[in-house]
Amino acid sequence: MSISFDDSTRVFTLSTRSTTYQMQADPYGFLLHLYYGARTDGYMAYLVTYADRSGMCGCPYDVHDRTYSLDVLPQEFPFQGAGDMRSPLLSVRDASGAFGCDLRYVGYEIRPGKYGLPGLPAVYSDDEADGAETLVVRLRDARLGLMVELLYGVMPELDVITRAARIKNEGAGRITIDRAQSACLDFVHGEFDVISFYGRHAMERMPDRHPVGHGSFSVGSRRGMSSNQYSPVLVLCDHTATESTGRAWGMNFVYSGGFEAQVTGEQFDQTRFQMGLSDDRFSYPLEPGEELVAPEVIMTYSDAGIERVSQNFHRCIRTRVCRGMWRDTPRPVLINSWEAFYFDFTGESLVKLAEKASKLGIEMLVMDDGWFSTRRDDLRALGDWTVNEGKLGGTLAELVERVNALGVKFGLWVEPEMVSEDSELYREHPDWVLAVPGKGPVLGRDQLVLDLSRPEVRENLFAQLCAVFDQANIEYVKWDYNRSIVDTYSRASNDQGKVLYDYMLGLYDLLDRLVARYPKILFEGCSAGGGRFDAGMLYYMPQIWTSDNTDAINRLTIQYGTSFGFPASAMGAHVSACPNEINGRDVPISTRGIAAMQGGAFGYELDLLELPERACEHIREQVRRYHEIESIVREGLFFRLSSPKQDPVCAWEYVTEDGLRAVVSAVRLEVEGYGVASYVVPRGLTPGARYRELDSGVVYPADALMDMGFPLPVTLEANAAVMYRFERMDD
Ligand code: DGJ
Repeated sequence: MSISFDDSTRVFTLSTRSTTYQMQADPYGFLLHLYYGARTDGYMAYLVTYADRSGMCGCPYDVHDRTYSLDVLPQEFPFQGAGDMRSPLLSVRDASGAFGCDLRYVGYEIRPGKYGLPGLPAVYSDDEADGAETLVVRLRDARLGLMVELLYGVMPELDVITRAARIKNEGAGRITIDRAQSACLDFVHGEFDVISFYGRHAMERMPDRHPVGHGSFSVGSRRGMSSNQYSPVLVLCDHTATESTGRAWGMNFVYSGGFEAQVTGEQFDQTRFQMGLSDDRFSYPLEPGEELVAPEVIMTYSDAGIERVSQNFHRCIRTRVCRGMWRDTPRPVLINSWEAFYFDFTGESLVKLAEKASKLGIEMLVMDDGWFSTRRDDLRALGDWTVNEGKLGGTLAELVERVNALGVKFGLWVEPEMVSEDSELYREHPDWVLAVPGKGPVLGRDQLVLDLSRPEVRENLFAQLCAVFDQANIEYVKWDYNRSIVDTYSRASNDQGKVLYDYMLGLYDLLDRLVARYPKILFEGCSAGGGRFDAGMLYYMPQIWTSDNTDAINRLTIQYGTSFGFPASAMGAHVSACPNEINGRDVPISTRGIAAMQGGAFGYELDLLELPERACEHIREQVRRYHEIESIVREGLFFRLSSPKQDPVCAWEYVTEDGLRAVVSAVRLEVEGYGVASYVVPRGLTPGARYRELDSGVVYPADALMDMGFPLPVTLEANAAVMYRFERMDD
């Protein structure tokens, strides 16, 4: 039993393998947060103090005790209107426009299995294997008839607790939801740092660590997408925590639209950590009988440093967010046409690329942007998903057959949520875009966003896409999305404050239908590179293009930052040409290969026909090496051994969960003078065991490796890389 309730104290205890979470419905019916930390028995109500420090803080009318204030007490679901002046999870208005509510505990339910969410992605459980349970805690505002069901999913083996909320109007009047966030952790004391992930197009998820002071540290997205700029992942940790020591808490939002994540140091040195929907352009009316679901947040805790938070996220997302046959299947090594040809290709040049690819062991060709309608540049034709047979020199089926005959699978690129002004679809349905009447819509990459909140728009896209996917043996689809949503006006809606949220429901509905109809297609997410790299998209597609930046050295930081919240199995990473198209850097092809093999969705993105034979030899060898290590990369425990931002060597490691095999990779970033020897210190090996490094045959004692490490070759030049494969000797 992972969830228990004690009637006498009204304390709920949620337990996972190594964590305990506790909350209490207090005598007034307010739900107080007690504890989220190392697994323990007993009641932690003693942590909450009611000392007379809240004399000037608001006190609920019926409590009438000046030592009691929700402005001080740690809470589970803080809401506007009860005297907590900190940042709430919920803000509502009634039909008269009055702000505020008064939510009190009315009951609970414990169910076997993990809850699902209508229309939204969420962690799922295999009930028998996972021992998952759901707790529903009901809070009600009697005046409004507002019911809030707090949902807690306990995944004991994953050390994960999820949260979401269903907000229902059971009253007689309209209620407007102005803010609906999903998760909050209140800490009564502690010296913390917050780790967030900022960036921009082609430089996503740069890690940023700050001490938490007084006031708020907030990141988020107002872009209608989780964004290239901030990732919906936040880690709070002890000020002194390292990768492998100290306490750390993580939140990871299972949603692909706008979000806000915040950490606030409060007046009494308490800390609030919260995450959920952004309030930007959000104002969601609920008529009697209607409900709104606040999307899911995955939470995890580690008392063994930050890397365990990441490892818990990895396991959870890889095995209980990603779905379908590709979840556990090695991904084909692919060659993508984008950086090879951009828009400038024909059926013939693609076949030649596939021919060369097949000789090098590459398993799939992806035809990126430019294959449909009049699309010869990025100014036109989005929305018209008809094959340009003139350009391809025949039908899609003929092209795919030729590629397949070479032993190479075939995939293609789409960007269905968008429309170009210069397109048949836009000429026919100008009212199908998100645009404010009378105002010139803001363009992004010269394109407009289709109104996916409308069923007829989704129906049209579904039909167009099926018509393409049914024409040929399509085994992979790259789903791109290249701009943010600025003009939030749907001609089909009376309440524009619903549009951004309803857009996401529409997108998820379309994706649900497509992945159900094409269970064998491997879908890869993309959004101007990694602009929608979130657990929401990973529910529909098991991998995402990590960034448009394919420079191996920049990628080390991008992938390092991405690894805090997401598994390697989700990271699309390709070897591209040098000098790099974005920053002009030259990096040896061996380093490009090792850097790209940090992702579990490995491939190439360059014109193979232009490469000298020596480079082709490298590629052949890389593909072979990748197959040897891919299951360790895709499913192993990941360790960030050093930081590409702070250390002269960036090293990382994967270890199989049974400790049998490990892969350690390192890239030298700097050399000063003749250089000093650099040591890499692996973690996660089996104590007491011996490991053989497979290329050199050298045998190492695991304890010494994990204590003093091993030296990298002193001759390793700047931007050069090495990879070591270790196997435990169980003799
Ligand atoms: C942006 C993506 O990130 C690229 O990989 C490529 O697919 C282009 N779009 C195509 O327009």
